Amino acid sequence: MSFEDLHKATAQALTKAVDELVAEFEVTPAKLDELTAYFIEQMEKGLKPTADKATDLGLPMIPSYVTGIPNGTEKGVLLAADLGGTNFRVCSVELNGDHTYNMEQMKAKIPDELLDDDTATSEQLFGFLARRTLAFMKKFHPEILEQGDAAKPVKLGFTFSYPVDQTSLNSGTLIRWTKGFKIPDTVGKDVVELYQTALKKAGLPMVNVVALTNDTVGTLLSHGYTSDNTDSMTTGEISEPIIGCIFGTGTNGCYMEEIEKITKLPEDLKKKLLAQGKTHMIINTEWGSFDNELKHLPATKYDIAIDKASANPGFHLFEKRVSGMYLGEVLRCVLVDLYKRGLIFSQYRSEKQLPHRLQTEFELDSEVLSHIEIDDSTGLRETELSLLQSLRLPTSPSERIEIQKLVRAISRRSAYLAAVPIAAIIIKTGVLNKRYHGEVEVGCDGSVIEYYPGFRSMLRHALAISPLGAEGERKVHLKLAKDGSGTGAALCALVA
Ligand code: BGC
Repeated sequence: MSFEDLHKATAQALTKAVDELVAEFEVTPAKLDELTAYFIEQMEKGLKPTADKATDLGLPMIPSYVTGIPNGTEKGVLLAADLGGTNFRVCSVELNGDHTYNMEQMKAKIPDELLDDDTATSEQLFGFLARRTLAFMKKFHPEILEQGDAAKPVKLGFTFSYPVDQTSLNSGTLIRWTKGFKIPDTVGKDVVELYQTALKKAGLPMVNVVALTNDTVGTLLSHGYTSDNTDSMTTGEISEPIIGCIFGTGTNGCYMEEIEKITKLPEDLKKKLLAQGKTHMIINTEWGSFDNELKHLPATKYDIAIDKASANPGFHLFEKRVSGMYLGEVLRCVLVDLYKRGLIFSQYRSEKQLPHRLQTEFELDSEVLSHIEIDDSTGLRETELSLLQSLRLPTSPSERIEIQKLVRAISRRSAYLAAVPIAAIIIKTGVLNKRYHGEVEVGCDGSVIEYYPGFRSMLRHALAISPLGAEGERKVHLKLAKDGSGTGAALCALVA
């Protein structure tokens, strides 16, 4: 065989292998039906009491103790703090009562030794949060520091975007970490108590953590506050927000559920709320943990390997197929596998010679995939540069064609799976049939839904081929709702 023939044969073998993988990543309409039905079943199960939340593999369905959605007339100045996957942010939010707000904020990167190290302690983490809160107060609210005392506290809403077993509006124990955090001694502890104690220690007894909220709940609340439905009211197309969701580093969603149906809530609390005229409560589904038993989710060997090597094996399996933290890692695992099968990057004689970054877990960011996804340059030159820059990985034009196919298959699977919980919640709540014209708003936030090219339209397409159907899909309005973890947490603190 000539060198040219050999080259052609390898290229053909690569194409064949990639086409097979692309087929494996496909989510068919039948799969969407199956997953949506199972999601509804799991939601119903999750609303019932759970024996052991730490080991339960079902959908957590956590009551948020928030019973209403703001309408934009709320007023007040409140503090908010937000512990995300990479940053910690402190803000003060002034709600103007006309759907608008002003915000001052300070952001700090979470030090690596707190994020990646399982020898770090809760005291260190919450000590860091308290010191950053103090720095914010010194800069933006020195007057509160000077005159404030514990007798005249200022309210703070704490956005903590990890699964907590919430027991009231301002208490909840961490069930488990997700998105990379590992600190073992925080698990099982009340995160409000930890933060409040650290604030006192740091000289901030006047800051009172009155509300604990998930970022999805914040997104739903902030969407309710900022969206002005006056226009749609005059046209008769009233749509109300009922779902808040995040597609970013992690993924999750919350929705308004009828209190009567939340059987896991204590009976006396339910009675009390109903007597107050409260009919609904926001449920944080923690849908990242959908189908941890892998009864229906697609599972390639790459998904299995990524889960095994993760900080929370066996949990958040839906998130590991959908969220931004994992998209690049799936592609990296596929590429290493294709190399091991002798189908790609044949310039490297042994695995050890592969660029170090290609061998490093989580080194391939989903942002790189977003460049490859829409690359239409000659010879996929953008892709070439992106891979060189991010992984120091040279590629041939034919390899790049295959890599682009893989990227598109991975992102499409993510967006199609993302449609499942949205369709399921809409069907379960029957919201499309309840309202005039049945319009529904979904407040969304997160880097993937905001920036990943085509993600939203792929998600919409999946909704149309899901059990919702094309007619249902047209009534669903996916709206970007920015900064739920700031404004939303402040709104939560306001009602506390
Ligand atoms: C967490 C959720 C959070 C989501 C989005 C997930 O890993 O478990 O609580 O809402 O990420 O930030």
